[in-house]
Amino acid sequence: MLIAHISDTHIAGKNKNAYGVVPTAANLELCVANINQLAPNPDLVLVTGDITCNGLLEESKRAAAILRKLRSPYYIVPGNHDDRSTLLSAFGQNACPVENNTFIHYVIEGYDIRLIALDTSSPGQSGGEICETRLSWLEEQLSLKKDKATILFMHHPPAKCRVLETDKDTFIGVGKLGDLIKKHQNIKRILCGHIHMSAHLEWYGTVISVAPSMGLEIVLDLTLKRPSEFTMEAPAYQLHYLTPENNLVSHLITVKDKDGPYRFKEYPESMGLH
Ligand SMILES: [Fe+2]
Ligand SMILES: [Fe+2]
Repeated sequence: MLIAHISDTHIAGKNKNAYGVVPTAANLELCVANINQLAPNPDLVLVTGDITCNGLLEESKRAAAILRKLRSPYYIVPGNHDDRSTLLSAFGQNACPVENNTFIHYVIEGYDIRLIALDTSSPGQSGGEICETRLSWLEEQLSLKKDKATILFMHHPPAKCRVLETDKDTFIGVGKLGDLIKKHQNIKRILCGHIHMSAHLEWYGTVISVAPSMGLEIVLDLTLKRPSEFTMEAPAYQLHYLTPENNLVSHLITVKDKDGPYRFKEYPESMGLH
């Protein structure tokens, strides 16, 4: 099974860039084209929130128009920059198979791994939240297939990732979420976004994997002293592949022109290789 994992596309309105300068829509187009030429083709593509810049319908529609070009089925969850109702209206049931519009959470069945989408967004709040309603919904879903390999995907990582911009956010209900997660050894991974850089960390007996953004990357400062800044980089996404040995291996794919591939042999120095 192969899963492509995109996050933080931050699509602005027509002919606009994120924060005025980051060409996130053009970057997402490049990512979609890159994913479409993968062999094997991903079974599905997950987009872990902050799909839009400001939650506007125009932005959601622009994002949906680009993601619709994917050859694989794709699914979304909202982030703190999104608005549930505009996402639902732009993306529809295929990408958001929800029963009602209270929360965008749902379960994807029929694959080697069961996938549970969680909605950690809370209007007007940049941090994450799993309230009692969402927690009990998750508890019920997990109880239905305790032995089936499972992935959770959501916008906010439920742990601090040593990124000032997002570590200062709170995550309401995180303790109860962790207590529930540690009871379920079948959760192979929690896929997230929000921090605008690739990261992996252990958490309550599972692993959190964070996908980078569409070229709007936060500057890594492990001292947490510098003001939050971003750089414009090539867009990237993660690929999670379930091996025949039943391990989920994750690769970071950066979408840019590359020199190569080269075989491992000696080349003339005049070729300028390092
Ligand atoms: Fe974001
Ligand atoms: Fe976010």
